[in-house]
Amino acid sequence: MNAFSGFYKKNIQERIEILKKERGISDDEAKVLLDSGALDLDTANRMIENVVGINHLPLGIVPGFVINGKEYVVPMCIEEPSVVAGAAKAAKLAAKCGGFTADADEPVMTGQVQLVGISDDALEKFNFNKEEIAVKAKELASGMEMYGGGYKECEAHILDTSRGKMLIAIFYVDVRDAMGANTINTLLEGIAPLLEEKIGGKVRLRILTNLATKRKARAKCVWKKEVVGEDAIEKMLDGYEFAANDIYRCCTHNKGIMNGVDAVAVATGNDWRAVEASVHAYAAMDGYKPLNKFYKDENGDLVGEIELPLTVGTVGGAINTSPIAGISLKILDVKGAQELSMVMAAVGLAQNFAALNALSTVGIQKGHMKLHAANLAVAAGAKEDEVKNVVEKMVEKNDYSTEAAKEILEKLRGG
Ligand code: HMG
Repeated sequence: MNAFSGFYKKNIQERIEILKKERGISDDEAKVLLDSGALDLDTANRMIENVVGINHLPLGIVPGFVINGKEYVVPMCIEEPSVVAGAAKAAKLAAKCGGFTADADEPVMTGQVQLVGISDDALEKFNFNKEEIAVKAKELASGMEMYGGGYKECEAHILDTSRGKMLIAIFYVDVRDAMGANTINTLLEGIAPLLEEKIGGKVRLRILTNLATKRKARAKCVWKKEVVGEDAIEKMLDGYEFAANDIYRCCTHNKGIMNGVDAVAVATGNDWRAVEASVHAYAAMDGYKPLNKFYKDENGDLVGEIELPLTVGTVGGAINTSPIAGISLKILDVKGAQELSMVMAAVGLAQNFAALNALSTVGIQKGHMKLHAANLAVAAGAKEDEVKNVVEKMVEKNDYSTEAAKEILEKLRGG
């Protein structure tokens, strides 16, 4: 039997015991998990400014994500109920159908340098001096070469704006397993004087773009009709078409995808604002569209596909500072940033499968409210061994208010 089966029915201590056995979590790491992440105030105070406290988020686990034949145990940090359960359900159904396939581009980050006050021949000057500019750029990003990355190429174009023409020089750097912000921004600031010297004009902004179209991850799954049900597939396709043709629905559709993607980004210490910005700009490149596709293949099975630009890393930044990020990456067992981005793409696709499946059949509230009821029970004062009974009664009464939770708890305690 799979060691993770029925994971969600176990208590926290039992779940941690499974992680110790199956994912090599040490006693110290288990202590960190049980100690709410063990981020101390001194560390927090070094991470950002004006610190006065620490805000915790729950860390949940979704076992059984089969991607390219490998079984992943996915950590997700999120405050919203039913996201983890939804991912678990979609992953389980996907595994019955052979799992996900996924791939990712080389981890190439893109940076931009803006030159204003340029002459009409600025672009020609850039192209004429490109070789020299490339040599300097390579030198500035040489720190990445020992990891197998480094400078890739550069190009430029002219923007005609209300403040005159500007030259935008673009640099591409393979940042390997880092998110890469520091590497690319250092290169951009370092190359700026040479650009001014060779092209003329004045350098203004020197910054990466989060729209990392050279750094995309893709995932695909064929959910079989025998597993999902032909009727459910038709309903889900109707739901997908709604998103593909209506921006108001599409926004929520993509939010559902990001429930999963962000939760993995947060668990692994990644910059989820960068991920959000990148993904939504990508969705809007040809008019705002769903980040994924659902269609029926010749067998009548449901095919789901997703492609996302993902600027995520497995080393550097908060990944090194946050104890939970290191443990999450250990649980996930990925070799580097590309593999992490593949997992995130698959989780995003799974999340949308779960939401579409629920929305187009029983509705979102049934599953969501059942899980939300557990929150209400805890807020009403229920202890761990009381939560299950309170939730059962709330579902029976179909009343998901705090008052109902309090009333049921009082009755259960003989009040
Ligand atoms: P269900 O089929 O009613 O429940 O799904 P079930 O009890 O039959 O369980 C089925 C499987 O779900 C289980 O299989 C688990 O894998 C998993 P089992 O292991 O029992 O053989 N599962 C759980 N996993 C962990 N903890 C749990 C748990 N319960 C079931 N407690 C479920 C219930 C909630 C999964 C389903 O209704 C669902 O997927 N709902 C959608 C959830 C969702 O998308 N939530 C996101 C929040 S809403 C939102 O923000 C996004 C949205 O607006 C996006 C959009 O509009 O597109 C919806």
